[in-house]
Amino acid sequence: MTVQLTLFNSKMEVFKTIKSLQQTLSHKVGKSTLGLVPTMGALHEGHLSIVKRAKEENDLVIVSIFVNPTQFDKKEDFVNYPSTMQADLEALEATGCDFVFVPSAEEVYQGNLSADSFDFGGLDKVMEGKFRLDHFDGVATIVKKLFLITRPNKAYFGEKDYQQLMIIKKMVEMESIPVEIVPVGIFREKDGLAMSSRNIRLTAEQRLAAPEIYQTLLKSKMLFENNDLKKVKNFVKNEFVQNKELALEYFEIADSETLNPASEILPESKYRAFIAVFAGQIRLIDNIALN
Ligand code: PAJ
Repeated sequence: MTVQLTLFNSKMEVFKTIKSLQQTLSHKVGKSTLGLVPTMGALHEGHLSIVKRAKEENDLVIVSIFVNPTQFDKKEDFVNYPSTMQADLEALEATGCDFVFVPSAEEVYQGNLSADSFDFGGLDKVMEGKFRLDHFDGVATIVKKLFLITRPNKAYFGEKDYQQLMIIKKMVEMESIPVEIVPVGIFREKDGLAMSSRNIRLTAEQRLAAPEIYQTLLKSKMLFENNDLKKVKNFVKNEFVQNKELALEYFEIADSETLNPASEILPESKYRAFIAVFAGQIRLIDNIALN
């Protein structure tokens, strides 16, 4: 089934089934290049900046909107995941997106709502992987399915979810999927808070406190230049002890490629700082390149 948007002059096409999508792609893509931007919807400017980038680098762009059940470790997080479908479609149309894929779970998983098991060589054992069990198996499962369904030349992932980006790169390499993975920088609010679909669920007080996360990352970057790892970590821990709105889940400094937590700093290696913080029930993550 093809759902044609009712927007004036809209050329964007929205598909709910794999069959209808593939029929259209097979006659419209041809020799053109196709860029894929996988999302879970509730789109914000961070998502749209990725779509714009994809549009610049490809003849045609497809965005998927699918809240993937197999990557949620907590059911309430899945159930409460925000949905703003009509606004999402309008924003995508205005950004010049060509195709949108909005499948049901049944359409994608065909009665087998489970994640495959991958061996990411340890990339999934640290940070997010430690705190969100099986999360990355769920992510890799859906992204692999989306690659096989849409067969894009390039696929775009935000550095906001840096560990996810590295895991997708690894999955593509292991599965020999012919797609180029393009990383996109973190898009922030004016006050530095990394844009996230979850931000709309923050209370006014939590929203006011949340820029502290990025401020702490910036300070840790400065400290990283002169101090040892322990000092940086202690500094970050202390920053959140007094905070009534934000609770630190983890702060880690890790190698940018292997994601191994750093135990010493080697001059030839690149490092990033990673942070996860709870504002009430809402989990916020961010990261920054240190050198
Ligand atoms: P979602 O959280 O909707 O994010 C979709 C893409 O947007 C991801 O690549 C994410 O890293 C990127 N993104 C989100 N906020 C961003 C920001 N502030 N700046 C830059 N990029 C940002 O990530 C997922 O969905 C899912 O795990 C998915 C890959 C779609 C698989 O289900």
